[in-house]
Amino acid sequence: MSILPIVAWPDPRLKRVCDSVDAFDDAVRRLIGDMFETMYDAPGRGLAAPQVGVTQRLFVMDATWKEGAKSPLVCINPEIKPLGDVMSTNEEACLSIKGVSCDVTRPNQIELTFTDVDGKRASMILEGFAAICAQHEMDHLNGRVIFDHLDETARKALETEYRAVA
Ligand code: NI
Repeated sequence: MSILPIVAWPDPRLKRVCDSVDAFDDAVRRLIGDMFETMYDAPGRGLAAPQVGVTQRLFVMDATWKEGAKSPLVCINPEIKPLGDVMSTNEEACLSIKGVSCDVTRPNQIELTFTDVDGKRASMILEGFAAICAQHEMDHLNGRVIFDHLDETARKALETEYRAVA
């Protein structure tokens, strides 16, 4: 396994709707291993394939490792369905937008459906931080980043701040 370079915003690969993964071969398994190593090294709790320059619908996450036990999760061709009306606003950062963060409001509970590393379709209900993390990574697969959740004024201010530290 190896640590991959992380693509920094505004790289165009972070603004693209990614393609479905249609082969579960050694190359995909190697990519997943490298993405986990890159995420833990960064250190982060989630990493989407376009962040390492691969514009395919795949992300890895581990919402708990910084607090103790690891809970690695691989999501290939994921889908997200919001559950209930409760929204949650949290400060989010991104490994591709280093040095800045902002509040993002998202559904607090979701159903996450995905293909796992064995090629089997799986589904789970997530809430709180894990749900936030999955939605943040899903955004990357659709060419969206935290800036895209802000109104124009807030976005301009945060982009200016980012360009000053990037
Ligand atoms: Ni991100």
